[in-house]
Amino acid sequence: MADLFKEKSEDWDGNDRRRNLAAAIGRAVKSQITLTADMEVLDFGAGTGLLCSQIAPEVKKIVAADISESMLEKLSAKEALKAKVEIINQDIITHPLAMKFDLIMSAMTLHHVEDTDHLIAVLKANLKPGGHIALADLDAEDGTFHPKDAEGIFHHGFDRDDLAAKMTQAGFTNISFVTAHSIQQDERARAYPVFLMTAKRD
Ligand SMILES: C[S@@+](CC[C@H](N)C(=O)[O-])C[C@H]1O[C@@H](n2cnc3c(N)ncnc32)[C@H](O)[C@@H]1O
Repeated sequence: MADLFKEKSEDWDGNDRRRNLAAAIGRAVKSQITLTADMEVLDFGAGTGLLCSQIAPEVKKIVAADISESMLEKLSAKEALKAKVEIINQDIITHPLAMKFDLIMSAMTLHHVEDTDHLIAVLKANLKPGGHIALADLDAEDGTFHPKDAEGIFHHGFDRDDLAAKMTQAGFTNISFVTAHSIQQDERARAYPVFLMTAKRD
């Protein structure tokens, strides 16, 4: 499988917009989920570990799963994460993990997965009973967030009601949304809100 993030990975963390977004999503996760020192967490689409860095100090362990080797190479170079973060370079949708987690979090990866219903089912299967999910992505947008020729973009953000309906259908409860951040693209006038959806597996 082609690594669509090979070029971007080179300076992923050098971009203020991405760092600010991850920090805002991290704050939103902490405000919505009670993090504890015994928690085992999955970061789906962890990339270079920007969200892992926000959450790792407060939990026992994070499994960082991503299909991009180049993004994960950047993560593996972060000394501060070595003690807590296990890296898995695997498509956990086609090759599911046998592990179960207290929390599954994800930042800006949902729109890269074509079949959202299937993804939700896979994530649910990787949650312990009573576990939580915290997924951040773009609210529905008009397709201008990514360049027209960008590869691997399957959704122009998400309608919150549609996503909540999918979560309900999958059996999740306590589904709620907050606005975690608003991305202001430098060269464009408009801003793109980013939600954090949380939910519980009973
Ligand atoms: C926009 S980046 C976000 C990275 C990171 N979460 C952050 O906020 O900086 C999306 C990430 O999702 C990963 N990704 C895309 N499809 C994936 C899949 N099926 N499984 C795991 N990771 C995936 C990409 O490789 C990329 O690292």
